[in-house]
Amino acid sequence: MTDRLTIRRPDDWHVHLRDGAMLHAVAPHTARQFARAIIMPNLTPPVTDAATARAYRDRIMAALGEDTDFQPLMTCYLTDHSAPDDIVGGHAEGVFTACKLYPAHATTNSAHGVTDIRAMTGVLEAMQRAGIPLLIHGEVTDRSIDIFDREAVFIERVLIPLIRDYPGLRIVMEHITTAEAAAFVTEADHPIAATITPQHLILNRNAIFDGGLRPHAYCLPVAKREAHRLAVRRAAVSGSPRFFLGTDTAPHVVGAKESGCGCAGIFNAPFALEAYLRVFDEEGALDRFEGFAAEHGARFYGLPLNEGTVTLERVAQQVPASTGEGATEVVPFMAGETLAWRLATDT
Ligand code: DOR
Ligand code: ZN
Repeated sequence: MTDRLTIRRPDDWHVHLRDGAMLHAVAPHTARQFARAIIMPNLTPPVTDAATARAYRDRIMAALGEDTDFQPLMTCYLTDHSAPDDIVGGHAEGVFTACKLYPAHATTNSAHGVTDIRAMTGVLEAMQRAGIPLLIHGEVTDRSIDIFDREAVFIERVLIPLIRDYPGLRIVMEHITTAEAAAFVTEADHPIAATITPQHLILNRNAIFDGGLRPHAYCLPVAKREAHRLAVRRAAVSGSPRFFLGTDTAPHVVGAKESGCGCAGIFNAPFALEAYLRVFDEEGALDRFEGFAAEHGARFYGLPLNEGTVTLERVAQQVPASTGEGATEVVPFMAGETLAWRLATDT
């Protein structure tokens, strides 16, 4: 049995770091585990231009202090009024790594998102030309579509026309949850990839209703039935360079989750690597973990692989009931459970 695993330093290609006190509380968890992370722009108000992204990046670095070598990779929140010049200029200057497409009202702080992607021609053509990746929250917002079908319907209604119209546009389908998405990303004749979260590898939709309503198992896209979880697991451990690590860690203060209308989001940053490694271990795919966690994403984004390594060891640890306090008290993913692996050293 393998008891120690050393891999190249990994990156997290989908993170919500929030702002203010919450940023200070949660950013160290991501910086402890990952060299770089794609930072989601859904603040209030959202990060919609290069100047705002620069200021947010400075706040992230200030929250982490002087000693960190963590690198936040900023994204631009697309709206119906996004300015192609600002996006292309911000990318050329190194402020923006990518743009995020939230269909309006799809999820937390997405009210300013895009109402009609077909009206985005100027922005999408500019991104295609400049090689700027488009990161997509892939769910339709049509309330008449069952919430468990919104990802599969998005592929049919939005994604297929999009890749037809923009054959060179680099696309990341974020946090995939369905067999349809796994198959589409695997087979598409297009520069497309997908991130996969720990929760969608570990939970199916029963977890949300296990003996009562479980708000800490609720995120968007919502977990699907078991057959989908298994398909997403197969994609993650397949070795395909189109699938890579993106936690979608999305902290909400405990009272906002345990509420009559609880927020969507799972805070998995503190033990993300350990949660993913559990899956690769169960699937007999420890040899594929480094590609998923530390290589596929960087290659898709055209960024250098990290120097240095991290080591995980088979030493049991218990996930605490909560982290932080007061306005930053958050319940982490798998609270109270025992994880078989532990992040040991940074070298
Ligand atoms: O569960 C989620 N939480 N899904 C998202 O798309 C957004 C995120 C958040 O910002 O809380
Ligand atoms: Zn997200």
